[in-house]
Amino acid sequence: MDCYPFSIASIRNSSQVKFHPDVTFLVGENGSGKSTLLEAIAALLGFSPEGGTVNVNLDSADDRSILHEHLKASRSVIRPRESYFLRAESFFNVATADNYFNLGKLHQQSHGEAFLDVLTNRLNGDGIYLFDEPEAALSPVRQLAAVQRIHSLVEKDSQFIIATHSPILMAYPRARILQFDEFGINEISYTETEHYKFTKNFLNNHGAMMHHLLKT
Ligand SMILES: Nc1ncnc2c1ncn2[C@@H]1O[C@H](COP(=O)(O)OP(=O)(O)OP(=O)(O)O)[C@@H](O)[C@H]1O
Ligand SMILES: [Mg+2]
Repeated sequence: MDCYPFSIASIRNSSQVKFHPDVTFLVGENGSGKSTLLEAIAALLGFSPEGGTVNVNLDSADDRSILHEHLKASRSVIRPRESYFLRAESFFNVATADNYFNLGKLHQQSHGEAFLDVLTNRLNGDGIYLFDEPEAALSPVRQLAAVQRIHSLVEKDSQFIIATHSPILMAYPRARILQFDEFGINEISYTETEHYKFTKNFLNNHGAMMHHLLKT
């Protein structure tokens, strides 16, 4: 149990993870195991590790973990009509393989525009959607637009699991926030998250914090 993924403390110290029926956010420091769990859930649901729909099959990552072989879903999944696994790093590969996009259209859009296009036009609801840091492409204002779109898909019987560092996204109220740390994977309130506390403090004190940080 010393090797990846059980070398990760949050994974090793967690035996059960409960998801919210609407949105579950996975939060925690870099390297705390969020993507590892998300990829294992994706594998359990039959996605290619690169992402996309269940039908997109781009198995180029040969370093995937075997965590999914150790996961057991405690309640059988009602087969959703639609599913989508979105990872920032493979978004363009997946979008290229996805019939929704024609290449000309895709390459005329910025990363953020293409992502919002997927969220707005590609996803229809009654689905399960796994996103890994969807904020990577989005300005703060567009992150709020993404929240609005996520909400309208939730209203259409969708479930999301989203790994994020964005204090904007994780403010969405119909959600459970799961924190990954050395103690395991545990529920935490929005205002208890490091992202909320640190960002709030930083924005209120950016001058003094920068001064302190940079003084030699
Ligand atoms: N294929 C792999 N083989 C061995 N170790 C890995 C592999 N992939 C990730 N790790 C290690 O597992 C730990 C958790 O990685 P993971 O990508 O799940 O973190 P994360 O919480 O998603 O971080 P971030 O917020 O930076 O995306 C890290 O220490 C990482 O170095
Ligand atoms: Mg990650």
